[in-house]
Amino acid sequence: MCGIVAYIGKREAYPVLIKGLHRLEYRGYDSAGIALLHKKEMNIYKTKGKVADLEKFVAGNDTQGHMGIAHTRWATHGVPNAINAHPHCSGNNNLAIIHNGIIENYLLLKKALQKQGYTFKSDTDTEVLVQLIDYIKTNNNCSLFDAVQTALRKVVGAYAIAIVEKGNEGEIIAARKSSPLAIGMGKDNEEFFIASDVTPFAEYTNKVVYLKDEEVVRIRLGESPKIVNLDKTESEINVEHLNMSLSQLEKGGYPHFMLKEINEQPQTILDCIRGRINRPATDVKLSGVMDHMDKLLSARRFIIVACGTSWHAGLIGKHMIEEFCRVPVQVEYASEFRYCCPVVDEQDVVIAVSQSGETADTLAAVQLAKSKGAFVYGICNVVGSSIARNTDTGTYIHVGPEIGVASTKAFTGQVTVLTMFAMCIAKMKRTISKERYEKILKGLKSLPDLIKEVLQYGNKIKDLSAVFTYAHNFLYLGRGYNYPLALEGALKLKEISYIHAEGYPSAEMKHGPIALIDHEMPTFVIATSDSIYEKTVSNIQEIKARGGKVIALVTKGDKFVSSMADYILEMPYVDECLAPIVSCIPLQLFAYYIAVQKGRNVDQPRNLAKSVTVE
Ligand code: F6R
Repeated sequence: MCGIVAYIGKREAYPVLIKGLHRLEYRGYDSAGIALLHKKEMNIYKTKGKVADLEKFVAGNDTQGHMGIAHTRWATHGVPNAINAHPHCSGNNNLAIIHNGIIENYLLLKKALQKQGYTFKSDTDTEVLVQLIDYIKTNNNCSLFDAVQTALRKVVGAYAIAIVEKGNEGEIIAARKSSPLAIGMGKDNEEFFIASDVTPFAEYTNKVVYLKDEEVVRIRLGESPKIVNLDKTESEINVEHLNMSLSQLEKGGYPHFMLKEINEQPQTILDCIRGRINRPATDVKLSGVMDHMDKLLSARRFIIVACGTSWHAGLIGKHMIEEFCRVPVQVEYASEFRYCCPVVDEQDVVIAVSQSGETADTLAAVQLAKSKGAFVYGICNVVGSSIARNTDTGTYIHVGPEIGVASTKAFTGQVTVLTMFAMCIAKMKRTISKERYEKILKGLKSLPDLIKEVLQYGNKIKDLSAVFTYAHNFLYLGRGYNYPLALEGALKLKEISYIHAEGYPSAEMKHGPIALIDHEMPTFVIATSDSIYEKTVSNIQEIKARGGKVIALVTKGDKFVSSMADYILEMPYVDECLAPIVSCIPLQLFAYYIAVQKGRNVDQPRNLAKSVTVE
């Protein structure tokens, strides 16, 4: 959470930083601020609200300068207001800092600084850090680069920071630990960008350096960046090539990123399977699996760790790995796993699933699993992200930047990779028949076309959602492979429309939630034809008998459910293990259209941020 961006070079910094903040706004949008350095002065503007509010606030003021730092905040310490907004300054206003993360020992540090006469304007942990740097710099009479290193050695917590100093217009110091930070390298060291991810600078350069944990970088115009870690060892600069087009970062004519990303799914699934499944669909190869076959085949069990939507993908993965590979699988919320004293050892393989690759709890779960000797496999979207770097091996889902806060195309990418993962291992273990294996691979290859077909129901789903904007509560039901989908449908609805929604395994309804059913509580049932279809039909009868309204997802040609449900949406036939990848599309669209009709901010729902880098 929180997005940081900094620039130094020949361009006017203000437009670069504002555009960068817009790109990072998915990381938090409680307040925004900017510091611009020009002719030995530092102009700071901060305001509560979004980046657009900051632009209005700044309008008419001096925005000159070729260097600056900017921040969009997801509040942790202190309410969202202008005082708590970043950048934060040292008491003498010489230093300004932007920060993503949490300084856990900030109260101790604050007390120590107060004893030295320091006073504080905000409630934030970040102001404590900048004052600490100032204290060290002043008392040790050292450079800003040295002061930052000394200060960070005293800090417990997570940080991605960038610091500038009034009167020192050629230099920015940045550092990271547990929060991401990327450096965009301009040609011949003539300009540099620093940001929480590559999106603010992908249009200016395709050369990127990802800072590692506990590294501090000194950026000076005309020089190669100098990177040291906290024990003062100098690190080599590893410049990577960035492969991202501008169109991936823009809405491309859609009113929201979420709708764009839902509609991208035929292409993103294609990108996800490209080069992994052969042309006749008789074989699948994931290099992450092939290169570590011994470890994966000898695993006593798999433990999937993830949060939110990625956890739902993990539940589908469990079903698949258990059905096809006959190895037990546990699916854990990363936030619980890390604190529940888990029994994990070198016989286990832990699979971490994360779109951003930066979720703090998932990263901590990965580190814990590794410390206990488990082999860790990552399934991430963001290339070069912390989880991708901390795992032993893994597979990228390659669905392109996901900017809408509600995850859509990442979910289908994750389930697709988990399917390919299960297929690779099942084949090697000989726990799947050739016919079933090839049927599933063919099914995977057919997904882009099937999703295209389902996307054509967009207007029908829009009309249907208009009927249900009245609802205050919603129940989502599914069984087997469709149970995680019920959870995902409910999550999508609640996070962007703010309608309370519960996902349940259909048969569990009788054990409690059935008490809620009445004419005001609609139920969305995923009732596509599968091995437990008849049971689902009975569940629908139970709802109808109590006056509940039912929307059902059914397979084309369905007769029973269609005659009982109030509204149906017909899905093309696909193997039941792949059905969630197709059936999630109407659930995503339904949540999207309800939210739009209720006037919600679909891409930036309240209180949420896309990349949860705090626990
Ligand atoms: C829901 C959503 C979140 C994320 C969760 C994990 O739409 O986006 O629930 O799935 O915060 O994020 P990642 O996958 O980045 O670890």
